[in-house]
Amino acid sequence: MEFSYSNPTVIHFGKGKIASVSKAVPKDLKVLVIYGGGSIKRNGVYDQVTAALADHDWIEFAGVEPNPRAETLDKAVALCKDQNVGFVLAVGGGSVIDGAKYVVAAAKYDGNGWDILEGKHKVRDALPLGAVLTIPATGSESNIGAVITRGETHDKLPFMSPAVRPLFAVMDPDVMKTLPERQLVNGLVDAWVHTCEQYLTRSHGAMVQDGYAEALLRTLKHLGDNFDARDCDEWRENLMWAANQALNGLIGAGVPQDWATHMIGHELTALYGVDHARSLAIVQPSLLRHQMEHKRAKLEQMGQRVFELAGGDDLAERTVDAIEAFYEALGVKTQLVEHEGDKAAAIDRIVGQLERHGMVTLGENKEITLDRSREILEKAV
Ligand code: NZQ
Ligand code: ZN
Repeated sequence: MEFSYSNPTVIHFGKGKIASVSKAVPKDLKVLVIYGGGSIKRNGVYDQVTAALADHDWIEFAGVEPNPRAETLDKAVALCKDQNVGFVLAVGGGSVIDGAKYVVAAAKYDGNGWDILEGKHKVRDALPLGAVLTIPATGSESNIGAVITRGETHDKLPFMSPAVRPLFAVMDPDVMKTLPERQLVNGLVDAWVHTCEQYLTRSHGAMVQDGYAEALLRTLKHLGDNFDARDCDEWRENLMWAANQALNGLIGAGVPQDWATHMIGHELTALYGVDHARSLAIVQPSLLRHQMEHKRAKLEQMGQRVFELAGGDDLAERTVDAIEAFYEALGVKTQLVEHEGDKAAAIDRIVGQLERHGMVTLGENKEITLDRSREILEKAV
């Protein structure tokens, strides 16, 4: 095992913590507050943030959409450049925080921001960023990744840079009280799949990473099985912390990682507007069955330690069935239903997108070729 690990994001977790924005954001820099479609105006988060910024010089940019679009974000980039913004505060979910990551990176770059997504510009410098999280799901509030969409061309691509990791993240579980049930479920499923992407690979003997991943999976399963208890502090706190820990770099340190479900799922979102988490639930069970022989040992381990299934030759298969049943019990479909027209045409489109985006050797073994992605989709679409 070999890795370098650092996660310097300061976490302010708990009720009332939005007030900590006041001290966490430097007062000598002009601040741009970025947010989404307005949920923060309706649930009091905006008021708490503006109260905390009472002694700051700040402006705002609203309207970052779910699956944030470069076309929109470029307007915020221009605002940063024109108004000499020195600090960006993202207030929202993964979309707003990812969008803000693009903004802080592109604000320090003279070329077209989309170059970042195409790998033509490597991000080494960015404006400082802070985050107030309003939906637990992506872990974006303390990680180095962002996923940005170019609406015009249906491209949804990730980039990563330590330069865009938020300096601090405020995580007040009370903000979850206004989340629509659909978004709450999405967050749970996304965090679950993030854990799986770093855990369901091959046996590697890293007991701490495996053990911690299993603790997260058991937590998420418990929360899902007890979804009726969601309207209490403990339930909300556990989901918010689990989702953060699932993708803050810790459980993936020094171990093989998959991420093929995510890369294929992104194309479902880009083409058919499927919610991010729901795209994962469509792809993952089929992918796990397709990759069964590579993943058998870890699926068996998960079956025993997370689902507490009895041993047997078909334990790995039963574990995938249990994952699928977990999604279905949460009301999350495991087949693509959003596509229009016939299935074969939909699969051609998705595979065409994967090819165009260079997603031609996916998975921990880099052996999910386009043909294999096609086979996976044929069972999922
Ligand atoms: O825009 P507003 O009005 O705020 O409404 C949002 C949005 O419609 C609403 N919402 C958020 N907090 C709320 C709330 N509604 C009521 N009360 C609240 N407290 O929820 C909707 C969805 O928000 P969004 O930010 O899109 O959700 P999520 O956090 O699931 O983010 C998804 C995005 O993150 C990317 C996804 O691809 C997708 O674009 N990901 C980012 C990752 C990362 N940076 O590491 C990893 C993930 O795998 C993922 O790919
Ligand atoms: Zn995800």
